Amino acid sequence: MKKITVAIDGYSSCGKSTIARQLAHYAGYTYVDTGAMYRAVALFMMQDSRCRTDNPVADLIPLLPQINIGFALQPDGSQHTILNGRDVENEIRGLEVGSMASQVSPVKEVREYLVAQQQRMGAQKGIVMDGRDIGTVVFPDAELKLFLTASPEVRAQRRFRELQLKGADPVFADVLADVNDRDWRDTHRKESPLRQAADAVVVDNSQMTPEEQMKVVIGLFNKAAGV
Ligand code: DC
Repeated sequence: MKKITVAIDGYSSCGKSTIARQLAHYAGYTYVDTGAMYRAVALFMMQDSRCRTDNPVADLIPLLPQINIGFALQPDGSQHTILNGRDVENEIRGLEVGSMASQVSPVKEVREYLVAQQQRMGAQKGIVMDGRDIGTVVFPDAELKLFLTASPEVRAQRRFRELQLKGADPVFADVLADVNDRDWRDTHRKESPLRQAADAVVVDNSQMTPEEQMKVVIGLFNKAAGV
């Protein structure tokens, strides 16, 4: 069976990483979470003593070649992000790192550095990669491009529940405002804004169960891979 490249893009909190991970498992492919790579760069900047001036992003740029990011498969099948040999999976998932990631991800030099790594990771195909610019910039020739979406209200509701499960006491209107705010930033930045590739298949999962969505995605994959 020929190996293909699967590019998954979409808004925040629409379940990209879950579907990407499940599809990679189904296909026996490597999964790469590019959001984790932007988060790891943000964490490096927050922790490195050389990024302490008024403009830490400018301090970061010459240090980019010192940032090594990899992924380590865990016995339970999940993946942990490794930054310069250190497992940072838990650290990068915090709100503060997430917000810093949205400040480093619009920076041209950061994107060029990470996109080159992502292209090397996918050079042999057999990869499922998710992010914001995978079908447009990283792998414009991917055989299967998915653009995942769900209404802002549905995504806010999902995030609201996740926060509650973590023991927080969120206000729905604030969560919805944050979702809308992130969408605006992702789609309006100068460097590689989030947009749907012309040849991407849109999957709106607002009204789908995870199982229904997976069925649709596996159908699209089998067709693209010639299964
Ligand atoms: O998907 P996420 O929340 O883990 O992404 C973290 C940040 O990185 C978010 O601000 C969007 C950005 N990002 C990006 O600009 N390009 C990608 N390919 C992936 C994520």
